[in-house]
Amino acid sequence: MKPVRPVYVVGGMSTSFIGKGHPDFVWKGHPDFGKRENPTLEDHLTAAILGTLAETGVAAEQLDRGFVGNFAGETFSSQGHLGAMAVRAHPALHNKPWYRFEAACASGGVAMASAVDALQGGADVVMVVGAEVQTTVSPREGADFLARAAHYSRERGIDEFTFPAMFARRWKAYSEAFGATEAELGHVSFKAYENANRNPRAHMTKVKKTLEWAQRAGDDNPRFLKNVELRDFLKVSDCSQVSDGGSGVILCTEKGLERLGKSRSSCAELAAYGVATGPLAEVADYTQLSTTRAAATVAFRDAGITARDVNVLEVHDCFAITEWLMLEALGFADRGQARELTLSGATSIEGRLPVNTGGGLIGFGHPVGATGVKQVVELYRQMKGLCGAYQMPRTPEIGVTVNMGGDDRTAAITVLRNLA
Ligand code: CAA
Repeated sequence: MKPVRPVYVVGGMSTSFIGKGHPDFVWKGHPDFGKRENPTLEDHLTAAILGTLAETGVAAEQLDRGFVGNFAGETFSSQGHLGAMAVRAHPALHNKPWYRFEAACASGGVAMASAVDALQGGADVVMVVGAEVQTTVSPREGADFLARAAHYSRERGIDEFTFPAMFARRWKAYSEAFGATEAELGHVSFKAYENANRNPRAHMTKVKKTLEWAQRAGDDNPRFLKNVELRDFLKVSDCSQVSDGGSGVILCTEKGLERLGKSRSSCAELAAYGVATGPLAEVADYTQLSTTRAAATVAFRDAGITARDVNVLEVHDCFAITEWLMLEALGFADRGQARELTLSGATSIEGRLPVNTGGGLIGFGHPVGATGVKQVVELYRQMKGLCGAYQMPRTPEIGVTVNMGGDDRTAAITVLRNLA
């Protein structure tokens, strides 16, 4: 969808993404265990809303509407009705229209697309915020909640860790079809940890890992699936994190810029989005992401770009193999060839096509509903030189985000253009 009324990204922020391995996250081994609690879903939502207002210098009074991305508030936190929860953040938000969007791990991405639609329909300044808390239960119990992003009655049984198993199935098919090796795939996770180590907001900011660790299973990198056919095709290092966090961004129209007193050059333009939805439990070919490809075709066409024009990418590396599948679905590599981009260093921060500069879902973390919003915030921050130790050497002109729900069942893609 190409906005008829131009849409500007004014700015945004993300809270620290936290969970096991992050120094602020309280669990059994932490010195604060029993003394303080981790932030709740409301805490992350509120921090993202107030932080985004503070970061952009926008007043709550100036917002027309709010869009909340969240997947599983009801199961992890016994909390729904998140529009009404969000407006508790500031009295000036009371009685404005705020509502929640759910599309599994693409909840933030579809909230973003819906916000763009609202700007076409008459709103001039909106906030998109995503938040998720998943650490209220063990990863094993949480895997059952996350499995609701699949066709639960048909797919839950693949493994207790349903989603990790679904992507092990993709890696099995891909490695068998194209001869890619676990040692090669390890470079994807290693890059994610390295980038996260340069990003103070990342879940894995302090967790140092070697390439060798990411390349093979071991006592400190176990294969944890029970499914005997898939067990050998996944280890902990291939997986995104079970994270808590929030992220927010402000979008506006030309009239909105006037209201906020902002210049075009302080913004990025959201040139186009593409959203595609595929039927649950009907993946025809595990070696490609056909729904992502459909969304990308629309987004690239409507933005008037090709893969060659893109300078930076935020892709949904829920598992290491997904990064390669996304590069191929978007046309950055032929099928079976994405490893060349990784192995050549092209996808590193200093490379010609940096991918997931802040660490992606494996390194920055994956608080599900926040992820699609965080991706847009990250591109904006790269475009405006705000990324500190993980800033790309060359200012990007065009960036693309890809946010995915389920096993490639919802894909939400945005194209951002830097304005100078
Ligand atoms: N040896 C053998 N097994 C071990 C082990 C070891 N040394 N250490 C751990 N395990 C196994 C155990 O079975 C353990 O479970 P129990 O303790 O309950 O028996 C299991 O691994 C998990 O162990 P931990 O709780 O210690 O693991 P962790 O906290 O480090 O978590 C992880 C690791 C399980 C990989 C977790 O990070 C995870 O689940 N990541 C994936 C999250 C996910 O699936 N997100 C959704 C992505 S899909 C998407 O984005 C699309 C969508 O719409 C859903």
